[in-house]
This record gives sequence, structure tokens and C-alpha cells, in this order.
Amino acid sequence: MSEITRFTVSLESDLLAKFDKKIEKQGYPTRSEAIKSLIRNNLIEQEWHRGGEVAGTVTLVYDHHKSNLVPDLLRVQHDYGKVILASQHLHLDHDNCLEVIVVKGEVGSIESLTSDLTAIKGIKHCQLTMTTTGQEV
Ligand code: NI
Repeated sequence: MSEITRFTVSLESDLLAKFDKKIEKQGYPTRSEAIKSLIRNNLIEQEWHRGGEVAGTVTLVYDHHKSNLVPDLLRVQHDYGKVILASQHLHLDHDNCLEVIVVKGEVGSIESLTSDLTAIKGIKHCQLTMTTTGQEV
């Protein structure tokens, strides 16, 4: 871990009050933790726009009874075998499945995988979450 640096931030009191209220709701223990998280998110976004290598997860919810959904899901995942590291499937209830796909690779391929998954008929929810170790940025 690198050395910790302290710095001062000047901002309007009402803006700070709103920020404190928000981070308390989100459960951050300190302002420093909340600001660190904001900076990291910003750097991830920058990496994303730069088109570099990122890691993340794609979360899917679907009804496995929908015709052709499962074969379509498998076909798309096989098409993107290079960026898919792992996947986990959970049976939420009688009809619904939750699937989490762990991805790592070039931003464009991961975005393309996410849109191909979203386009499958019967997918109820498809959410991509990106992350980074912070070493790339
Ligand atoms: Ni299932």
C-alpha cells in the first residue's frame, strides 16, 4: 500500500451537509472512505472510456422456462469465452435463476457481451459492474 497523504478540500457548507447525509445512508465510516470510493469510481470510468482492460461481473436474472433462453445464453457465453473467467448459477425460486458471470478483458468486448446478453429474449435483468485493481490507472 502506498503512503497516505492528507489534503484539505474547501466546499460550500450545504454541499458538504448533503454529502455527509448521503454517505451516512450508504454506510461509509468516514468522509475519507467515501472520497476514496468516489475517486476510484472516477478512475474506473476513465479506464472504461480509454478502452483499456477491466474486470467485473455481469449479473443476470431470468426465467429458465422461457423457450430458447438457456441455449441462447450458452451460445453467447461460448462466443465470449476469452473474456469470461467464471460463472455461477443460483436457482432463486421455481422459475427464476440468478447468474453471475465474472469477466476480465478489453472494455469493448465486455460491453458487447453485456449487450448480447441483454438482447436475449426473456432476460429480466442484466447489469454490468466494472472494477479495477487501480494499478492500471
Ligand atoms: Ni436455475
